Amino acid sequence: MLNRPRSSAPLARAGGPFDLKITGATVIDGTGTTGGRADVGITDGVIAAVGDLSREHAGTTLNASGKVLAPGFIDMHSHSDWRLWENRRAESKIRQGVTTEVVGNCGFSPAPVSTEFLDDLRGFAIDVPKGMTFEWRTFGEYLAALDADGLAVNVLHLVGHGALRIAAMGFARRPPDPGELTRMQKLLADAHEEGAWGLSTGLIYAPGSYAATEELIALARVAARHRGIYASHIRGEASTLLDAVAEAIRIGREAELPVQVSHVKAAGRPNWGAVERALGLIDQACAEGLDVRADAYPYTASSTTIRTLLPDWALEGGIDAMIARITDTATRARIRRDIESPGDGQGLVGRVGWENVMIASASHRKDAEGRRISEIARAAGVDAVDAALELIVDEAGHASMILFQLDEADVRRALGHPRVMIGSDGSALSPSGSLGGSKPHPRSYGTFPRVLGHYAREERLLTLAQAVHKMTGLPARRLGLRDRGVIRPGAKADLAVFDAQRVADLATYEDPHRYPAGIEHVLVDGRFVIKDGQHTGSLPGRVLTPP
Ligand code: ZN
Ligand code: CU
Repeated sequence: MLNRPRSSAPLARAGGPFDLKITGATVIDGTGTTGGRADVGITDGVIAAVGDLSREHAGTTLNASGKVLAPGFIDMHSHSDWRLWENRRAESKIRQGVTTEVVGNCGFSPAPVSTEFLDDLRGFAIDVPKGMTFEWRTFGEYLAALDADGLAVNVLHLVGHGALRIAAMGFARRPPDPGELTRMQKLLADAHEEGAWGLSTGLIYAPGSYAATEELIALARVAARHRGIYASHIRGEASTLLDAVAEAIRIGREAELPVQVSHVKAAGRPNWGAVERALGLIDQACAEGLDVRADAYPYTASSTTIRTLLPDWALEGGIDAMIARITDTATRARIRRDIESPGDGQGLVGRVGWENVMIASASHRKDAEGRRISEIARAAGVDAVDAALELIVDEAGHASMILFQLDEADVRRALGHPRVMIGSDGSALSPSGSLGGSKPHPRSYGTFPRVLGHYAREERLLTLAQAVHKMTGLPARRLGLRDRGVIRPGAKADLAVFDAQRVADLATYEDPHRYPAGIEHVLVDGRFVIKDGQHTGSLPGRVLTPP
């Protein structure tokens, strides 16, 4: 491995020529500094030299004149841990230039699993793709199964608090007893020893929402001992946003570990504008010496499971219990009251409006996909609450929705903030995959090109180098991923070559299954996964474990 200054002229390289040389591109190295023209030489999957390599030999030379060469993008917040099982080629991600995904977010992860509560964990998933056998129990067994057949992208896995809680106590709506808490801590410690990078929570989702702050601190301390991070879908993103950010910061302070506020946003018109104050709390925490960061996606709609429409008490005991409650007349009336009552968290519809809730995917009710709940209700001649509850029952809670509920100015504030990195909150999808006919949020296809094209080039919210930094060097540093996210000798050759004039997202809410424009070549560990805009079928990605 060579370690040379960028400007070095002729480079004689012990051990022969480069496997690959990428010449003539503007190299934006991921550190946030403006790029300059340079060649990059790659040997054995590692960047061997950066500079003028015109006199160096290489097995293959790729002329990238006029293009940008950047580190492969790191998706700081992904849910591909489920979809990769049927899409190991990671189509919609790799075609955006993403080479590493951080998965296991929002409190969800497919492991660890206890035999006793296996069905509860399965019920938790929006949809379990083919190949996802749940034959594993430990986190290590699961990671080995995910890694076994290859992946197009690298994966860093967090442990979902929801999975830990389900493994220890199912969907019980109460604090853990001391034995259950110890069990969760042990499962988390084991997961860290087996390759996890941290703990994630989803505090608006049952069973995560059943946990008090003290339980989370007790777990986060275990993650801290293993140098993990704490990534949180915080307890409220609407009127309680600031309290929820404060809770995340408190967990970081008391458990002494880095905090990642996931997909920072202010949901619902009455709360628009609050992102600035949320970011202010993060800045204040950093000024105090804490390590708090956030991520965001470049869209004004969010997306989640339709179960989120329900009050969280309705999920106690799991999916079957939830359905029984919705179908029982008296309990259904209580659910309706909670849905219609204003307030935060579960009072979601009051602040959003049924006309702003679109069904994204519903495997039994295909007719509902792409339609607003207000419209579905009108067509069926029922009121919106009934239409939504019927859908939840028909789908056994396994459907997703898109909520048009965010403010463009808030999105811009988040994307523009120096402590915010880019996370899609989406998954690796493909038009021919099992969600191919449905209308998932376009973020799974467009997040990274949208930041580069729309927000950097067109809107000039960020320079290109800043935008690249938010999707490469910044998340790499946050994760302690020392050899990726930057272009320098010695780093792994995860690279993206794109056309800065043309890069753009093409996926829309109406037509989401569209790959972006302008991403020309993507390499993972020095191997082409995208070459001239085409997927090579190569699967060089690995499940990465912490150093
Ligand atoms: Zn989330
Ligand atoms: Cu998420």
